[in-house]
Amino acid sequence: MNMKNTVGTLLEMKQRGEKISQLTCYDYSTARLLDQAGINTILVGDSLGMTMQGYDTTLPVTMEEMILYGRSVVRGCQNAFIIMDMPFMSYQVSVEQAVENAGRLIKETGANAVKLEGGAAVTGQIQAIVDSGIPVCAHIGMTPQSVNVFGGFKVQGKGEANAERVLQDALAVQKAGAFMCVLECVPPKLAGLITKKSEMITIGIGAGKDCDGQVLVWQDMLGIAGEFQPKFVKRFGEFGKLMTEAFQTYDAEVKSGAFPEEIYTYAKSDCSDAFLSQLDSKY
Ligand code: KIV
Repeated sequence: MNMKNTVGTLLEMKQRGEKISQLTCYDYSTARLLDQAGINTILVGDSLGMTMQGYDTTLPVTMEEMILYGRSVVRGCQNAFIIMDMPFMSYQVSVEQAVENAGRLIKETGANAVKLEGGAAVTGQIQAIVDSGIPVCAHIGMTPQSVNVFGGFKVQGKGEANAERVLQDALAVQKAGAFMCVLECVPPKLAGLITKKSEMITIGIGAGKDCDGQVLVWQDMLGIAGEFQPKFVKRFGEFGKLMTEAFQTYDAEVKSGAFPEEIYTYAKSDCSDAFLSQLDSKY
């Protein structure tokens, strides 16, 4: 039986040792499918800058764009818990701006929580957003909004000093009040330790199987993203190929006149031939 996922039901899943499913989503039609499939949580990720808008990074995405996509996702869901990504520079400038923008994302979309990137550096923002009544999902490890600091999309937490820093980030965001934390491109044993030491839910992407749940970008897992395929992406379907084949068949049938066949027309409501020839001679 499907029921609405909430912070409470998700935390109970962690306590019972049940895994939590999360996928990104940016539109109404896909959101309906994910919701019907029983996906627990949907992330309206700022990855939409890359998957929906064709940018190389997530940096250009604006608040207005997030709100537009987020609203469509919310309209498609009944049970999934919906998390809105806070776009680059919507929370870094000040704690006040972070609260204001988190409030807009919830108020103007109807989503359930916000996500922001960064560990110890953003605990002020996390605490203030949580204090204003908005659940927060943190995001540590490889944080795509810092791509220019990392010099590319690279695994984080390699080496002892970095591993300890990632653990410290996890403990800091948990202390600040985050109920969930995405661990991106974190080595699997380290992700397992963080999960064991956390009361918050850990959601892994490229972080191994010991996290409380997993997230993927839906276009990646169905093979409709571009050529680049991160190591952690498992293809659960080859929909890119299927879609291209269908578009090619449509193109060929339109051009040959094979489509539309009579069953795809309103032939039964047509005028008589006699009336059509009257019209033909009248005009
Ligand atoms: O923006 C996004 O889709 C994300 C996930 C990849 C975790 O942050």
